[in-house]
Amino acid sequence: MSKPNLLLMSGSLRQASYNKKLLREAVRAFGEAEAVEADLNLPLYDGDLESRGLPPGVVTLMDQVRDTDALLIGAPEYNKGMSGVLKNATDWLSRAKQSVLKDKIAVVMSATGGRTGGEVAHFMTVNNLIQLQVQVVHGPLILVAKAQEEFGEDGRLNNEFLQGQLRDRMARLRAMLA
Ligand SMILES: Cc1cc2nc3c(=O)[nH]c(=O)nc-3n(C[C@H](O)[C@H](O)[C@H](O)COP(=O)(O)O)c2cc1C
Repeated sequence: MSKPNLLLMSGSLRQASYNKKLLREAVRAFGEAEAVEADLNLPLYDGDLESRGLPPGVVTLMDQVRDTDALLIGAPEYNKGMSGVLKNATDWLSRAKQSVLKDKIAVVMSATGGRTGGEVAHFMTVNNLIQLQVQVVHGPLILVAKAQEEFGEDGRLNNEFLQGQLRDRMARLRAMLA
């Protein structure tokens, strides 16, 4: 596989999100790839809305997930929990007539302002993905604590240890996709 497709799913919607920056660093660490940033700004899952037809953003996301080789997931932590944005997205994705998540390969990483780097949110996200039969590429947790101190003005991660973790996990992902 020469140029794999990577779909970036950030559980934070804000433009200056550290999780978005972390996902972009992961793409740089991966090397040659077609990376697409998914838009998870979807309506809240609502069975009545669904029965009237899937919202266009959900259809787009389902198509992107179906067509990608791997997911890179940025999992922020809110009040020691998983991001509602991410959970809402996986709830919608789970409603695809033909599963788009089953056997999809994913790498999860977290960036937070707090001291623990989002460990709780990270595990909640992984549990959610396991339920959906996603193949999570496991390894030492990629957790960026105090993210405001770890990213420079240029959006780059100034931490060699974390950069090394990203390089190792992306090398594993590349090998799995080869
Ligand atoms: C409602 C809310 C709850 C938060 N709860 C936590 C938390 O439990 N743990 C933590 O480390 N940071 C917490 N934070 C700080 C976030 O980690 C921080 O805002 C981070 O930048 C969010 O990710 P983003 O930069 O990708 O948007 C919280 C922030 C908000 C707005």
